[in-house]
Amino acid sequence: MDGLNALKKKYLDQIMAASDEAALEDLRLAAIGKKGEVSLKMRELGKMTPEERKRAGPVLNALKNEITSALAARKASLADAALEERLKAEWLDVTLAGRPRSRGSVHPVSQVTEEIVAIFADMGFSVAEGPQIESDWYNFDALNIPPEHPTRTEMDTFYMHRDAGDERVPNVLRTHTSPVQIRHMLAHGAPTRIIAPGRVYRADYDQTHTPMFHQVEGLALDRDISMANLKWTLEEFCRAFFEVENVELRFRASHFPFTEPSAEVDLRCSWDKGQLKVGEGDDWMEILGSGMVHPKVLRAGGIDPEQVQGFAFGIGIDRLAMLKYGIPDLRAFFDCDLRWLRHYGFRALDVPTLRGGLSA
Ligand code: PHE
Repeated sequence: MDGLNALKKKYLDQIMAASDEAALEDLRLAAIGKKGEVSLKMRELGKMTPEERKRAGPVLNALKNEITSALAARKASLADAALEERLKAEWLDVTLAGRPRSRGSVHPVSQVTEEIVAIFADMGFSVAEGPQIESDWYNFDALNIPPEHPTRTEMDTFYMHRDAGDERVPNVLRTHTSPVQIRHMLAHGAPTRIIAPGRVYRADYDQTHTPMFHQVEGLALDRDISMANLKWTLEEFCRAFFEVENVELRFRASHFPFTEPSAEVDLRCSWDKGQLKVGEGDDWMEILGSGMVHPKVLRAGGIDPEQVQGFAFGIGIDRLAMLKYGIPDLRAFFDCDLRWLRHYGFRALDVPTLRGGLSA
């Protein structure tokens, strides 16, 4: 019996002193594991006389139970101590002010659209909108593009589905923002000054073309508006947008069914080691189409061309974004590659204004 008392004291002391779970497991194996000291003693019970067994059995069982609960108790207190340590180390001051960690970013197209809106808003233009699924009349006829006109095929139009037997001309995904001119004239008349940014669609795909892209339409109507007003407006816009003083534009005679006369506008620039500089050099970059609104278009918009004239223009927003921010491939704009968005994206809380800085 003395031997058992010594054994009990030895194990209980060691259990109390164990500093981690691994040490506890070693002790468990040494005492009550298959070949543990206590287990071996229990195995000897078989060789004892019935009287001896009657005495030794309960004592050994009690010893085994005691060791088992001492192990469990020590394990629990080690876990408590560990938790206590962590709580001390990993505290969090919930009264601290939040530190904003912005994850999303503003897409260059959204940024440039905001910049364009800010510049034209400063010149007194408001923003108008129209649907992306447009009727054939708004997208073509009202803009002086009759059914047989070659522009219809040049624009690589996406036609919407019509059920078999439905004889109506199918709707289209608008091929330009110009139908917003008509919608706006019909709803608001003249005088007016608007821009209409938005998505447009054409079946075309290469480094500078994607089937969906963005335009901003401009329309100014009043009693005596001329090409001179158009030229000033566009020069003023380019100066503000490219954030350089000496912008030079070249107006090249062109043709659009909805303007007369029509001009395409090029921007003087230089390409130096893949870097674009606006306002210097010997290169010209086409950036927009424009002209004086055609009398037939005014009439389609319910306006008397004898009383009112105006200018209109259509700028490719994605083109402007590529130029200003040096982005070489248009297709990457719409690939949704997070690395691209992080690289070319803008801080979400910086709103472009003329005073605060457009691209700051
Ligand atoms: N709608 C023309 C285009 O998409 C651009 C344009 C708009 C030209 C307004 C003149 C006037 O190419």
